[in-house]
This record gives sequence, C-alpha cells and structure tokens, in this order.
Amino acid sequence: MTAPIRSICCIGAGYVGGPTMAVIADRCPQIQVTVVDLNAARIAAWNDADLSKLPVYEPGLDAVVGRCRGRNLHFSTEVEPAIAAADMVFLSVNTPTKTKGVGAGQASDLRWIEASARQVAACAQGHTIVVEKSTLPVRTAETVKAILSAAQGDVPGGGEPKSFAVLSNPEFLAEGTAIPDLENPDRVLIGGEDSDAIEALAGVYGQWVPQERILRTNLWSSELSKLTANAFLAQRISSINSIAALCESTGADVQEVAHAIGTDSRIGSKFLKAGPGFGGSCFQKDILNLVYLCGHYGLHEVAAYWQSVVDLNAWQQHRIARLVVQKLFGTVTGKRIAILGFAFKADTNDTREAPAIRICQDLLEEGAQLAIHDPKVPEAQMASDLGCPAEAGGWHAVASPQLAVGGADAVVILTEWQSFRELPWMELAPLMRRPAWLFDARSVADLTAARAAGLQVWRVGMG
Ligand code: NAD
Ligand code: UDX
Repeated sequence: MTAPIRSICCIGAGYVGGPTMAVIADRCPQIQVTVVDLNAARIAAWNDADLSKLPVYEPGLDAVVGRCRGRNLHFSTEVEPAIAAADMVFLSVNTPTKTKGVGAGQASDLRWIEASARQVAACAQGHTIVVEKSTLPVRTAETVKAILSAAQGDVPGGGEPKSFAVLSNPEFLAEGTAIPDLENPDRVLIGGEDSDAIEALAGVYGQWVPQERILRTNLWSSELSKLTANAFLAQRISSINSIAALCESTGADVQEVAHAIGTDSRIGSKFLKAGPGFGGSCFQKDILNLVYLCGHYGLHEVAAYWQSVVDLNAWQQHRIARLVVQKLFGTVTGKRIAILGFAFKADTNDTREAPAIRICQDLLEEGAQLAIHDPKVPEAQMASDLGCPAEAGGWHAVASPQLAVGGADAVVILTEWQSFRELPWMELAPLMRRPAWLFDARSVADLTAARAAGLQVWRVGMG
C-alpha cells in the first residue's frame, strides 16, 4: 500500500503546471505543493505580491493563488530539493513541435521531458511516483521509465533505495476556463500499471472529484486519449469552418446550420463555432504529433486524414486575409486596418498559434498598415509573434478600439473578447475612412448597429 501523498513537486510553472498545482493545493491543504521552473522571471512573477502580475492570465486564478501561496503552495527555481522532498513529481514541461531533425514540423520535441526525467532520476529519494502531465506521444512513458530505472536502487547518502512508478495523467483544461475546468472536470484520466500509484493519485483528485469521474486505463490508452481528444475537438472546428465557407457561397448561415445540427444529441452543440481557425499551443501540435505517429506505424491514409484538419485550418486563416483584401477593392497597400484581438481565444494572454498571427502576416505582406488592439497581449509579444518590430514592420499596438479604428478602412475582429461584443459602432464608425468595412471573424459584433452606423459588414459563415 502506498502511503497518502504529503508532498508534490511539479516541474514546469506554465499554463498547465501553475493553475493545476494551485487547484491541487487549494483542495488538498494537507499536501505541500512546490512548482519549480528554470525560468527565474516566470517564478518571480508567480511570487509577485501583486496578484495581477501572475505570468498566466486566467479568470479566478489570482484568488486561488492568493489563498494558498505561502501556506502549501510554493513557487521556486530550486528544482533539486523540491524533487528530493516529493512523494509525487508531475512533469508539466513544454512539448512543442520539433523544428529540426527527424520528424521536424510534426513530432513533439521531447528534450524537456527527457531533461526533467533525468533530474528526477538524479535527485529523487526513496519511492517516487512520476506523473506525466505534459501531452506526450504514445509510448513516451517507456522512455521516462528507462531513464528512471537506470537510477532504481541507488541509495543516495545512506537513505532509502530509490524506486519509481510512472503514471500518465493528461490535462484536459482549456485556457480561459482553466480554474472551473480543474475544479469541476468532466473526467480525470490516470493511466498506469502500478495500482498503488494509481490509487495514490486518484486519492489526490478524490479530495474534490467524484470517484466515477476518475478513469483508470493502461499507460498507452491514456497517452493516446489525450491526442485523440484534441484531434476530435479540432476536427469539429475544421468541419464547421469548411461549412462556413460553403454558407458564404450559397446563402446559408453557419450559425443556423450549427444550431440545426447541434440539436441532434448524437452530434451535440459544443465546438461548432465557425471562426478564424483554431489556435492555441495544443491542437495543431497534438494533431501533427498524431500524424507523425501514424506515419511511423505505416498508417499513411490515417495520417493524411488528420493532416487535412490542420491544412483546412491554415486555409481558413489565409482565406480570411484574402477576403479582406478582395473587399477593399483588391488592394490594402498603405491602407490602415484595425485588428481587434490578438490572443488565440478570449480570457487568456496566450498567443501561441493565434489565428491573428497568420492573418496579420498576410495583410502586412500585402502592404497594409495595422493598428492592433488586444486587452491582454503586450506589444512585445505581438512583435515576437509577427517576427518584426512595430513601426518598421508596418504595424503598431494601440490601447483601445477607438485608437485602432481612427482613419481605418476596415476593422477585423479576431478574438471574441467580451468588450468587442459591446463596441459602440455609432461612435466608432465616424472615426473610419468611408467606405468602411467590419469583418467579424468571431461572430461577436452587433451587426445591426454596425450597419446602422454606415459600415459594410462581413461575418464568418454568413451567406
Ligand atoms: P509552458 O511552456 O507554458 O510551460 C512549461 C514550463 O516548463 C516552462 O515555463 C519551462 O521553463 C519549464 N521547463 C521546461 N523544462 C524544464 C526543466 N527541465 N526544469 C524546470 N522547468 C522546465 O507550457 P504549458 O502550456 O504549461 O504546457 C505544458 C504541457 O501541457 C505541454 O505538453 C502541453 O501540450 C500540455 N497541455 C497544455 C495545455 C494548455 O492549455 N496550455 C492544456 C493541456 C495540456
Ligand atoms: C484545448 C482543449 O480544449 C483542452 O481540452 C486541452 O487540454 C488543450 O487544448 P485550448 O486550446 O486552451 O484547449 O482552448 P479551446 O477552447 O479548445 O480553443 C482552441 C481554439 O479553438 C481557439 O482558438 C478557439 O477560439 C477555437 N475554437 C473553439 C473555435 O474556433 N470554435 C469552437 O467552437 C471552439
């Protein structure tokens, strides 16, 4: 029997590690939770007395961190002692798509997983349960186990011999709703072979998650379920975006079609919002990883099937940029265009794979002058994502929609921030150059008000 967990270390203080450990600390006051990261600036931000400066913006996160930090939630750059003190270590490091070498552009780069597994092998003491929280290719646990078993039985400083159990526990939270997703998950998935270790982790979640929602599988099913869940969700978005394009050509309305099909209980209503394509750090990366795995196992037709979901997504983004150019008389050279929203979705400051990046790059390539406003994304982040500095690159960041639209020929909405639903079109339209366009790629604007204010209007999927 494994004793109850008293001390957790989480390697990686990012969008997953930070919020997940904050909720575990909140719900399990008897467990000491230490989140470690090599990035000293990130750790300093997690420790900032001003909770509005946390490195991850998530509604509700500041309150949870405020309750637990210093009590049983700690953020530190001291990786080794935190591992040594832990009964359970979560690996929550980044696993981006490889940019070079074998599998470049598809396979996940596992260098940070390997480095953290090696650190656990070197610093752990006694029995340690190692939990894969990062999203990983199927059979990665084999690599983690191989690294750990090389240290198995070592007796550091005369203590207990080292031993390890490896579990897969993928995270299903979505950014922007991370706290409610963690506090009330549809399910928690635990994959493993060691039933004591599985029950020890189930015991942690069992503090607040009903037992029937804690699913237990073998390691490989758990790893593959995470990739599959993201692939299915992304596939729905590419499917509805493909139909949105058809709606625009035929006079159908994608919102009506989505509602009509979503009321079929076999289809369901969620993830049927047409838009500028999916962004975020997970969907594209995880599907490309699936494509790579299928290719590796010789399943080329399966690989091509999933690749088409990513291809359709990129097509949708280029399509929207082309459409803006076409409506503005075929040229945007020297024209000012207001971009509202840069984050990949509302309620996050994350811009990884944001649709705004590709759409802005296409418009800049056509010679447009962009004024970009996002309530949570700083200019430096936009510059890094666009690959060019403001001004010299033909764009600049502005602090409000009012400043963005001044003198613009068009306004393009790319993130569904609540404030964009309430834009005062009667006040904004007169600031623009006539004839002026509103391109609503998120279906959030009040189109009746925009039309009444004299704007021409395009909305994704509206025929
Ligand atoms: P992130 O880049 O925000 O955070 C990862 C952190 O790990 C970074 O701060 C990095 O400095 C740190 N790190 C890397 N190697 C380290 C080491 N050896 N020692 C200490 N720190 C180290 O990434 P994220 O968005 O939190 O994602 C983490 C994992 O979770 C990925 O595998 C991702 O696919 C998965 N995931 C992400 C989400 C999401 O919404 N972002 C949701 C579910 C799953
Ligand atoms: C996703 C998964 O939802 C989550 O379970 C997993 O753990 C991580 O990846 P995330 O990327 O944070 O979460 O956000 P999500 O809400 O899934 O949105 C992803 C992208 O799809 C966003 O760009 C969003 O705007 C877009 N989207 C989502 C649509 O275009 N239409 C929809 O109907 C839903």
